[in-house]
Amino acid sequence: MANPKFEGVNGLKPVLMFDSGIGGLTVLREARVLIPERGFIYVADDAGFPYGGWEEEALTARILDLFENLLATHDPEICVIACNTAFTLAGAALREKFPHMTFVGTVPAIKPAAERTRSGLVSVLATPGTVKRAYTRDLIQSFASQCHVRLVGSPDLARMAESYIRGETVTDADILTEIGPCFMEREGAKTDIVVLACTHYPFMANVFRRLAPWPVDWLDPAEAIARQARRKVPLVEGAEHPDSYDFAVFTSGNPDFATRRLMQGFGLKA
Ligand code: DGL
Repeated sequence: MANPKFEGVNGLKPVLMFDSGIGGLTVLREARVLIPERGFIYVADDAGFPYGGWEEEALTARILDLFENLLATHDPEICVIACNTAFTLAGAALREKFPHMTFVGTVPAIKPAAERTRSGLVSVLATPGTVKRAYTRDLIQSFASQCHVRLVGSPDLARMAESYIRGETVTDADILTEIGPCFMEREGAKTDIVVLACTHYPFMANVFRRLAPWPVDWLDPAEAIARQARRKVPLVEGAEHPDSYDFAVFTSGNPDFATRRLMQGFGLKA
């Protein structure tokens, strides 16, 4: 779609929310509750989806290029990188290249998981990209060295989540193949927390709960990210959300019908 310019809508800059696909909507829905007075621009790099298997250098270059353009076009108040795979790789480079922009990131919720686990067995369910990041290893070393953390890199789950949320059939058996490795038993103890370290996965949390061999906490960081975004967006007395403003941008320029309908369901023009 043509990107409406923001100026003059309610005088406030919008929040730009970025993901490789539709996963960032799980963060958007929380952010809107906490930042009701701002317009939102949802950007899906669907032409690059999925990010999980990308080579690191090429993906960083792609994300930096995209932001060059996004910032010039939309002039947002802040950017929320609602994608673990993108932020654990390119977060530092984005902040370095665009020092005047505030980037709120998404990283695997390893610290809260380590604080909450009682069994000491924690799994991190993520894309293969996030699992291999130095950033993720550093989080484990800094905050969870007393736990046994299993990194489970799923090559297909983000795509399955996209299909699922569009109403297509995804079989229980296929989902179980992806989440099964999260469940560990050691010396009588069992995994009690699974970190949802890809913003696509919370869409399927109910299915995960149903298929899990035993109950665990499925840690979704969306609310914490939204709270951080709220802290970074100045409150303006009396400001109200601009009418019918929020919209989605797809880098393919051509989202399919089911995706457009989904966006409409989230109150985003696409
Ligand atoms: N939603 C993204 C994340 O949080 C990744 C999905 C993908 O592109 O593979 O990691």
